[in-house]
Amino acid sequence: MAVDYKKLGLVNTRAMFKRAINGGWAVPAFNFNNLEQLQAIIKASSDLKSPVILQVSKGARKYANQTLLRYLAEGAVQYAKELGCNHPEIVLHLDHGDSFELCKSCVDFGFSSVMIDGSALPYEENIALTKKVVDYAHQFDVTVEGELGVLAGVEDEVKSEESHYTKPEEVVDFATRSGVDSLAISIGTSHGAYKFKPEQCTRDPKTGRLIPPPLAFDVLDAVMEKLPGFPIVLHGSSSVPQEYVDIINHYGGKLPNAVGIPEDQLRKAAKSAVCKINIDSDSRLAFTAGVRETLAEHPEYFDPRQYCGKAREYMEQLYKHKITDVLGSDNKLANLD
Ligand code: G3H
Ligand code: 13P
Ligand code: ZN
Repeated sequence: MAVDYKKLGLVNTRAMFKRAINGGWAVPAFNFNNLEQLQAIIKASSDLKSPVILQVSKGARKYANQTLLRYLAEGAVQYAKELGCNHPEIVLHLDHGDSFELCKSCVDFGFSSVMIDGSALPYEENIALTKKVVDYAHQFDVTVEGELGVLAGVEDEVKSEESHYTKPEEVVDFATRSGVDSLAISIGTSHGAYKFKPEQCTRDPKTGRLIPPPLAFDVLDAVMEKLPGFPIVLHGSSSVPQEYVDIINHYGGKLPNAVGIPEDQLRKAAKSAVCKINIDSDSRLAFTAGVRETLAEHPEYFDPRQYCGKAREYMEQLYKHKITDVLGSDNKLANLD
């Protein structure tokens, strides 16, 4: 018997994406694997009255148990209300689904949105698989994200050495024939904390920090011209805040030359038809910085609430910064009462 996500208080992405595109902002899509991440996401989005997408990857399902994750998301709706957010808009989304069966199981289990990532498949196979997921999910009013173009780096099971930008000439055919509600595109972002090799970057002469090459906004512009008003998604959009990298490295970590997408580029993207921006690595960095700092300064601590508490504080600050200063999704709930 399928679980109806609407009964859990969750929403799909349709209405929020429409408002985001019309209003020139983007919905944050934050991955979560544990309680502290979820607490920080819900605290930040509720305090700031932002819609939010909770993303669960295949790896997260394996790590945290999919049943627990689903009940945590259900609990998140109640927690948001307890925090004074009377009409939260929370999406439970499968990130990088790699098969029809996985997507179906999430739809049946109460997810309100799924991604089917057929980006590594031949074009026609990507369309066929995506359409199969759309046909199933739409029966339950679950929204579907597809992907065209391949990001550099690792996309869960989908591996690619180099990035292949989305071909704008394919997007109309793909969106029409597959029936997807939103489309993830490749314009130079990638997953993880090492988005560019040092030789692809220049260096700031004053700080010595790496300055990455710009994203391919010409590709985004061409996609938007072909598909006016269609919801576009950016994966791999962590900015890899150097303050967290520095804390990690200072307290014994080893993340040399970690580099992300500069936030001014993400701000620019958020103002366009890009209405969902995926952020996972930044949260991992904030968490690790909090744990390393606390344990280094207090070697006597052994209660996880002490170092995970600091990690949670850093993640909440990070999420709040993304919402207000990068994506502009604060005070964008349909009902702010
Ligand atoms: O796109 C990848 C996400 O950051 C999820 O990563 O598969 O390690 O959970 P994961
Ligand atoms: P980052 O690794 O840049 O945080 O990207 C996350 C992502 O795209 C999840 O799907
Ligand atoms: Zn991704």
